[in-house]
Order: sequence, then structure tokens, then C-alpha cells
Amino acid sequence: MSEQILVPVDGSEPAFRALKVACMLARAQNQNIRLLHVVPNKEVPAGLKRYAEVEHMRNPPEYLYETAIAENVLNAARDQALADDAPNVECSVEHGDATKGILAVAGREGVDTIVMGTRGLSDFKGMVLGSVAHKVAHGADCEVIVVK
Ligand SMILES: Nc1ncnc2c1ncn2[C@@H]1O[C@H](COP(=O)(O)OP(=O)(O)O)[C@@H](O)[C@H]1O
Ligand SMILES: [Mg+2]
Repeated sequence: MSEQILVPVDGSEPAFRALKVACMLARAQNQNIRLLHVVPNKEVPAGLKRYAEVEHMRNPPEYLYETAIAENVLNAARDQALADDAPNVECSVEHGDATKGILAVAGREGVDTIVMGTRGLSDFKGMVLGSVAHKVAHGADCEVIVVK
């Protein structure tokens, strides 16, 4: 299995900044970038709805909504990674809890390093670290880099 860097992306600015750092590492170490978006099983978070509005994805049918957002987020991230000369980019989608999905892919794919944002789409500005970043940093067996 080739060495790879896992970059979980939720469409947030910190996640895109994390991807920039991941691409620098991938170029330097000739590593694969694996992008991952975890689609929540329950209600769409307000932040993702705003993202969809900004991207002009107006009124997609409810059953397509989250899949459309996942595709949009992953495509934007892949475009950025390719523009940043990442040697190789692959995409994954998981469903359910974000932390569980990230840790599952990291284990399954033999990931060396997870590079993610300190924060994501939620509105809790008072917190230094988002809950997904916090739980992944605690739970991962591999190296975790969080980017502000
Ligand atoms: N659903 C998701 N799919 C993939 N990555 C995610 C998801 N949610 C969060 N992340 C990753 O975790 C980072 C931190 O987000 P999070 O802990 O959710 O902060 P917040 O509480 O501000 O939303 C994001 O920058 C992103 O890298
Ligand atoms: Mg979040």
C-alpha cells in the first residue's frame, strides 16, 4: 500500500487551508492525497446548507441534497489539490458520524498522516478546536496535523 495523507474536507476554509499544507507535504514526500467527505446520516448542518446556497445549489431534492454537497466539496478540493501539484489525488465518501468515518478510513487505507482543519463549519467561535478535530486527534493511531 502506498504512503498516503488523509485530508477530511467539509467545505470549510480551515479544511481548504489544511489541504494546502497537505499538498506541500505530498509533493515533498511523493505521497498520495486521499480526500474524504463524511455525509451525516441525520439533519444537514446549517453550515452545509449555507455552503450549498453560496454554491448556488438551490433547492436540490432532499434525497440528493447531501450527495450533491459531498460531490461539490470533493470536486472543489480535488481541483485545489491538482492546482497545487499534488502527485496523486483520490476521493472517498463515508456516511454517518464524521469522526468515526475519518478514523475508519485512516485505519482501512493505512494512512500515515491526517491533515485537517482546527475548525469546520459550526458557529461555536469560542472553541479553539472543533469537536471532530479534537476527537480525531485523540483517537487516531497515526500522525495528526491540525491547520488553523
Ligand atoms: N463531515 C466531515 N467530513 C470530512 N471532514 C470533516 C467533516 N467535519 C469536519 N471535518 C474535518 O474536521 C475539521 C474540523 O471540523 P470540526 O471539528 O467539525 O469543527 P467545527 O466544530 O468548527 O465544525 C474540518 O476542518 C475538516 O477537516
Ligand atoms: Mg463540524
